[in-house]
Amino acid sequence: MKPDRIRNFSIIAHIDHGKSTLADRILELTGALTSREMEDQVLDDMALERERGITIKARTVALNYRARDGKDYLLNLIDTPGHVDFSYEVSRSLAACEAALLLVDASQGVEAQTLANAYLALENNLEILPVINKIDLPSADVDRVREQLENIVGVKGSEALLACAKDGRGVPEILEAIVKQVPAPAGDPQAPCRALIFDSWYDQYRGVVVLIRILDGSVAPGMRIRFLATGLKYEVEEVGIFTPKLKKQSRLSAGEVGYLIAGIKKTEDTRIGDTITEDARPTSNPFPGFQKIKPMVFAGIYPTDNTDFEVLRDGLEKLHLNDPAFTHEPETSTALGFGFRCGFLGMLHMEIVQQRLEREFGLDLIQTAPGVRYLMLMKDGTKIEISNPAKLPSVQAIDKMMEPFVTATILTQPAFVGGILTLVEGRRGIQKELRYLTPERVLLVYELPLNEIITDFYDRLKTVSRGYASFDYQLSGWWESKLVKLDILVNGDPLDALSLILHRDRAYQRGRWLCSKMRQLIPRQMFEVVIQAALGHKVIARESVSALRKNVIAKCYGGDVTRKRKLLEKQKEGKK
Ligand code: GTP
Repeated sequence: MKPDRIRNFSIIAHIDHGKSTLADRILELTGALTSREMEDQVLDDMALERERGITIKARTVALNYRARDGKDYLLNLIDTPGHVDFSYEVSRSLAACEAALLLVDASQGVEAQTLANAYLALENNLEILPVINKIDLPSADVDRVREQLENIVGVKGSEALLACAKDGRGVPEILEAIVKQVPAPAGDPQAPCRALIFDSWYDQYRGVVVLIRILDGSVAPGMRIRFLATGLKYEVEEVGIFTPKLKKQSRLSAGEVGYLIAGIKKTEDTRIGDTITEDARPTSNPFPGFQKIKPMVFAGIYPTDNTDFEVLRDGLEKLHLNDPAFTHEPETSTALGFGFRCGFLGMLHMEIVQQRLEREFGLDLIQTAPGVRYLMLMKDGTKIEISNPAKLPSVQAIDKMMEPFVTATILTQPAFVGGILTLVEGRRGIQKELRYLTPERVLLVYELPLNEIITDFYDRLKTVSRGYASFDYQLSGWWESKLVKLDILVNGDPLDALSLILHRDRAYQRGRWLCSKMRQLIPRQMFEVVIQAALGHKVIARESVSALRKNVIAKCYGGDVTRKRKLLEKQKEGKK
């Protein structure tokens, strides 16, 4: 297809504003799938995605469309993941497009992720086509949303298209607007090959399938290619497009989006954002935005039954093949036995991996409290990254402790600002901005420690705002912080799986909370059970579970591992 007949676009939206539903209607209308093949939300093909109704991995699909001008076009719809955990993937997927449909729910209006995604699109120099969806809802307020698009996002709200993705109204107009308003891809088909990797996955039969956007030149089977960031070289076996099934092509040229198979063994070798070029005639202009995705949230994962350790290892390795963004390394705990320290992009990512392990490998798992990755600048000049509290070096050897912070954007209504300020300030937030965008929309920008938002922040935010606050964040860097390691001891023995690293000012409160929670969860025994929270040798909180009757074996107790395990399991249930 000639570049002037190609349109590459994606749909961006706040969660639940109807992105997948609109994608389905577009697929239906362009006849990409017959109605028999058409299942709701075909782009979300993982069972888990379907169940939770969210898009996890990016997908793409090539659509043939005959426009009202009678010409045939090739529309490449590039789906983007809808959650902040995957914002790097969103950004790379957007880099493969010329335009984005910015979808806004007519009753909810502009939300934090609408804004964050619109900014990502603008950073990638995309044309933004605003679309107001769900106009069928009784609470739809199109004029208000138009105003918000103008005042908050800074796009032409008056030109926004109206749609009801549910019944397909307005969708034909969207397709026409794509043809007319989205620029055709630029790029020189004769130049040396320059292709951007924006997704990849492992296929059991084909090996790694790489999703690429050709910026210049072309790729075809038989060509020797080189990945510029990693220096790895391969021979192309097959190229093609998605219809959404894989469809072989003889060549992919400038402007096109498709897949490439080249005998690549591991998805790790295909870094998202890397440039592919021809080995014999390399481009002098690699794509700039390459970044290795690093996990941000860490937790220990242990099988409840220690004999399942090998199954767990196997499961983690299999999942890792397709999802190199999560990491795992073996660790042992006195209380929990053998398990793994795993790193994830965020909380949702962690939940997804855990659920997949339980579902696909039949495992029953215990997970320790999630934490973040700290940076220790040592007195000897070295730097150490700590994601496991057990590995914290001695404080005497540490010069500075650094903690990861995020820039958090919250959009809410004026009535809830007070409650939200109390919440974020209680989480050590530092205000950067507080602005009334419209009489009914307030923008709050805060620097917050990542550790303070990974567990229950979002739930608390929803509670204090009665659901009228949306939230998005981006890692902003490492700041110096006064960190301590908090240990929990039961009858004098530390439970390593419960240790955490946290800010000194939060240690007392957290220690007291953990002790009292443990006290409620531990059933009374024949002897007294003492639960303590300690910073080093200093005990900062204490609770005890009194003995059932005369304490006859008080002095015999030596720390029974199986009992501790049971306690922990109970605690886990309690936490749930
Ligand atoms: P993520 O993939 O999680 O980002 O969500 P999404 O933006 O893809 O939203 P999705 O398409 O899953 O739609 C969310 C909900 O809104 C679903 O229950 C849809 O049925 C509903 N929905 C989508 N479009 C419309 C619409 O035009 N009208 C109405 N009434 N409901 C809609």
